[in-house]
Amino acid sequence: MLSCITQTSSLRQGEVVVPGDKSISHRAVIFSSIGEGTSIVHNYLQSEDVAATIEAFREMGVNIRADQGTLIINGSGLLGLKKPGKPLYCGNSGTTCRLLAGLLSAQTFDSILTGDNSLSARPMLRVINPLIEIGALIESSNGFLPLVIKGSQKIIGLEVDIKVSSAQVFTAVVLASFYAINQTKVIHAGNFRDHTQKLMTHLGINHHEGGHYCEIYPKPNFKNKDIYIPSDFSSAAFFILLGILAFKDGLRIKNVLINPSRTGLLSLLERMGARIEVSPNTDKDNHEETADIIAFKSELTGTLLQGDLMQNAIDEIPVLAIAAAFASGETVIKDVEELRVKESDRITSVVDNLTRCGIECSEFSNGMTIRGGKLIDAKLNSYDDHRVAMAFIIAGIASNRSIEMSDCSIIDTSFPDFFKVLENLSCNFKLANY
Ligand code: S3P
Repeated sequence: MLSCITQTSSLRQGEVVVPGDKSISHRAVIFSSIGEGTSIVHNYLQSEDVAATIEAFREMGVNIRADQGTLIINGSGLLGLKKPGKPLYCGNSGTTCRLLAGLLSAQTFDSILTGDNSLSARPMLRVINPLIEIGALIESSNGFLPLVIKGSQKIIGLEVDIKVSSAQVFTAVVLASFYAINQTKVIHAGNFRDHTQKLMTHLGINHHEGGHYCEIYPKPNFKNKDIYIPSDFSSAAFFILLGILAFKDGLRIKNVLINPSRTGLLSLLERMGARIEVSPNTDKDNHEETADIIAFKSELTGTLLQGDLMQNAIDEIPVLAIAAAFASGETVIKDVEELRVKESDRITSVVDNLTRCGIECSEFSNGMTIRGGKLIDAKLNSYDDHRVAMAFIIAGIASNRSIEMSDCSIIDTSFPDFFKVLENLSCNFKLANY
């Protein structure tokens, strides 16, 4: 078990590069695997979550080679996947599991999806139900893993309302709809990350986006194209936080994805008084927008944070909560009930760890209240949640307190170089195996 103990650091100015985007990396592997011809995926995220997706497709016969930060994928075509010889293990990765559930439900072979303890406790009915509605046959253990997916079903398509505002569920239904007999109208509430739509456009997959629906047409035999993946905004978020807490002359995070469906955190931090500069890049290779983000040490003020924007910051709430702990006055974070079913119950795990740090806070059903204050030395619990672990390590570094975070190995699911990047910024910490 790897633990991290933070120590006093003196920080002023810096520059970092964070790894490729996790959501886009999963999609790049999945779409390239069912496309025709070869795709080179640049700057994919080399982490456990994405490795689970890559391994699943290798197991289904797709030729995927990794070469110095790129993936070379020889697509099998829409109908070329092979029956896996064993259950597909998704590890900690909700995106692997839910997206694969969609794709596998439309194959000619049976398959099984499994995962680690955390993933096995996450709800799957949200993805099973709409897939069953369009013709899939999936058995689960009362709505949880393992999923047993029956092949050779007639995917009918037509119309389906996905009910939850979830990019994972949306994408699962899109992937199944590629194999449908009819055109499928996927009705949704919008307001979720739109990487799937952007990638379909990049690959020339015909689809029609209305306000609250997207029409998918059957059998889109598409040719693979190279995919350039920008740095992950969700990983950049930890360094945006570090910048506004500690870097007087600014911390620059290079070439970050700035898709508006992901960057709600910037507006929320700005409402709290953060000084953040966004300097757009004009790299034509990317099919998504990117920018350098520079975060400066700022005086933060407690604020009421709620509404639609929260969905566009849903993976960054632990970061926001730490900003609130350093702000003057009270911050109320509302409309984030989805946090109850993330890698941990992030409302409880954040409030428990803040309390251990001596911060006055409380939870309610769809959010939390945090009164800013001075952190004290504390022993914390990662709750086996990568984002909780990283957010509190940043808190320890910025507060110059000794924060001991238990079991940090989980960080490898999304950001294996996290400690290397901190080290390059001259942040002080000690890693220990217990
Ligand atoms: C993701 C979608 C989001 C997000 C998750 C990644 C994706 O989940 O929280 O980390 O890649 O589609 P939901 O689809 O459940 O909102």
